[in-house]
Amino acid sequence: MIQVAVFGYGTVGSGVVEVIDRNNSYVSDNSGDKVNVKYILDLRDFPGDPNESKIVHDVDIIVNDPEVSIVCETMGGVGAAYKFTKAALEKGKSVCSSNKELVAKHGAELIQVAKAHGCAYLFEASVGGGIPVLRTLTTALTAERITKIAGILNGTTNFILTKMEQDGANFSNTLKIAQDLGYAEKDPTADIEGHDTARKISILSDIMSGHFVDSDAVSTEGITKITSSDITIASKAGYSIKLLGLASRNDDDSVGTMVAPFLVAKSHPLAGVNDVFNAVFVTGNMLGETMYYGKGAGKLATASAVVADVIDAARKGSSCMYKGWDDTPVKTASLSDSEYRFFVRCSSGDAEAVKAKFAGAGESITAGSETGFITEKMTQSGFDAVASELGIRILGSIRVYE
Ligand code: HSE
Repeated sequence: MIQVAVFGYGTVGSGVVEVIDRNNSYVSDNSGDKVNVKYILDLRDFPGDPNESKIVHDVDIIVNDPEVSIVCETMGGVGAAYKFTKAALEKGKSVCSSNKELVAKHGAELIQVAKAHGCAYLFEASVGGGIPVLRTLTTALTAERITKIAGILNGTTNFILTKMEQDGANFSNTLKIAQDLGYAEKDPTADIEGHDTARKISILSDIMSGHFVDSDAVSTEGITKITSSDITIASKAGYSIKLLGLASRNDDDSVGTMVAPFLVAKSHPLAGVNDVFNAVFVTGNMLGETMYYGKGAGKLATASAVVADVIDAARKGSSCMYKGWDDTPVKTASLSDSEYRFFVRCSSGDAEAVKAKFAGAGESITAGSETGFITEKMTQSGFDAVASELGIRILGSIRVYE
C-alpha cells in the first residue's frame, strides 16, 4: 500500500483526492501498488464530507507517520507550506506540489533537501496546470539547448482577453464575468497584474538556465490597462492580445525575462490559445520550435498533474527527481537593449502628429475616436524616450511579439 497525505483541502487538494479515488485502478496500477489517501491536513473541519475522517489539523501526525511515503502540497503560499514541505522531505517523504509561489522562491533549496534525504520534490502542476511541460523539459528535451520560452501561463487573464476580443467588452466588466464563473479570485491582483505568470516563467527559466531566476525581478506588466479599443484595433490589424511570459537565453548564458501583454499575429499558434487554456512555446537549438497546450488551471486538470507526480515518486523514488537548479542568481540580460515593434494608440485627431515621431510606422487603423499604428523595430529605450516626450498623448502602447 502506498499511503499518501494531502496538505490543504481546497480546490486542488480536493481534486487530488478525487483523482486518486476515481482513477484508483489506473493510479495504483501505474504506481505498482495500491494508492490510498490516509490523511488530509487542513485548518478546517469538513462535516459531512466523505473524507471527513481523514482530516487532521496537526502536521506532525503526518510527518511522524512512517507509513506515509508521499505528500501532496496544495496549500499555496510560502509560510506554512515551506515549513511543512521541508519537514516532510527531511523525513524522506516525497512531496508533489502545485504551489508555484513556493517553487519559484524555494525550489532550489527544496530539491537539495529532497536529494539529501533520498526522496523527490516534484511540481509539475505549478506551471501550466495539467500541461506536462516541466517533465517534457527535464526528460524529453534534455539534448537541447533551450534558447527561448514563450508562454500563455495564466488561465484567468487569457479568459478575460479572449472574452474582450470576442464580445468587444471592457476590462472591468469582463473581470467581473471571470469572477462570477469562478476563474478569477475575489482578489484577482496576482493574476491580472501578471505576478502569477512571473512565478511560472521564473520556474521555467530556472529549469532552462540551471540557475535561480528571481520571480520578483521579472519585469512584469499586467493586463489592467488593455482597453477594448486596443483589442479592436489590434484585431483589425491581424493580431490578438495575449499576456505572455517570456524567457530568452543568450549565447553568454544570460537570461532575459518579461511578463507583459503582447500583440500576437493571428497566424501564430499562440494566438489560437483561447479561454482558460495555456500554452508553452519552447525553442531548442536542434529541435526548433515545439508547443505544449492544455488546461492551465482548474481542479481536476491541475490535480491530475499532482497525481502523475505521485505515481512517478511511487515508481521511481528519488531517481525521478528534476536535475534542478542552483541558488546562484542567473546573469540577467538587460531588456532596454531589446528591440520590438510597438503598437501605439492615441486619439484620432492627434494620430498623424504622434505617428510622425515614429519614423517608418505602419498603417493607421481607427476604431471610434481612437487610432492605432505599429512602429518599426526600435529598442525599448528608444521607444521609452519618444513615449516620454509625447507623454499623455500616447493613450496606450503594447509590444508586438515576433
Ligand atoms: N490563477 C491561475 C490561473 C491558476 O488563472 O491560471 C493556475 O495557476
